[in-house]
Amino acid sequence: MTSGEKTSLAFFLDTASGFLSGGYAPKRDYDFSDDPPPAAGFSSLPLAYQVDEEEATGAETLDDIAEAIRRCDACALCRERKLAVPGEGASDPLVMVVGEGPGEAEDKSGRPFVGPAGQYLDRMLGSINLSRDKNCFIANTVKCHPPGNRDPLPEESGACAHFLEAQIRALRPKVIFCVGRIAAQHLLESSEGIGKLRGRFFEMEKFGGIPLLATYHPSALLRDETFKRPVWEDLKLLKARLSL
Ligand code: URA
Repeated sequence: MTSGEKTSLAFFLDTASGFLSGGYAPKRDYDFSDDPPPAAGFSSLPLAYQVDEEEATGAETLDDIAEAIRRCDACALCRERKLAVPGEGASDPLVMVVGEGPGEAEDKSGRPFVGPAGQYLDRMLGSINLSRDKNCFIANTVKCHPPGNRDPLPEESGACAHFLEAQIRALRPKVIFCVGRIAAQHLLESSEGIGKLRGRFFEMEKFGGIPLLATYHPSALLRDETFKRPVWEDLKLLKARLSL
């Protein structure tokens, strides 16, 4: 591990433990040199992902897409939402982060990942020089808050899928970074658990080969610290892929 990596790792673990304990922990030295190497490598998506020529050439702007999301009434989630949450961030991003769906704080503000999990996500990204102000766009699988923070139903994710796809086409990120099972399963059209889907890149044929990497959702890290290590391995893969 290089000294730069050690610094980033210490920062990530420091800020993460500070966040978890509600304060800032003193800086510590971590030596993960005995860790097994991360599961790197690339695999192809099943060809169930076919390019729809008409959709692929549609040139909607991010603002058009956001406006259509705010007007959308295609599924029952629109009835209880306060505000739809289209997403936010850089318009020419290195990374598009895809989460599950807005929580209560996001429903109230109309902005993605602004509650506790969002603050943790910002720290995760910051540990490898990524941020929504600079080089990331943050979006969700569904754009309206599922009541009680339940998982989005398949018909809800399905009704929202064209918005996420239009955003990916408009943004053309260098990497799609899925946080959590729901986003990873949705975009990879897979029923595998997140433990199996994380830790390696998938080439998104449907989007001209954009690589997709998945990791655990930041709210999982808030519940269980043992997810920190694999998330850090995934962040290192992302950093290396982007030469950050
Ligand atoms: N969790 C998500 O998956 N998305 C958000 O926007 C907030 C919390």
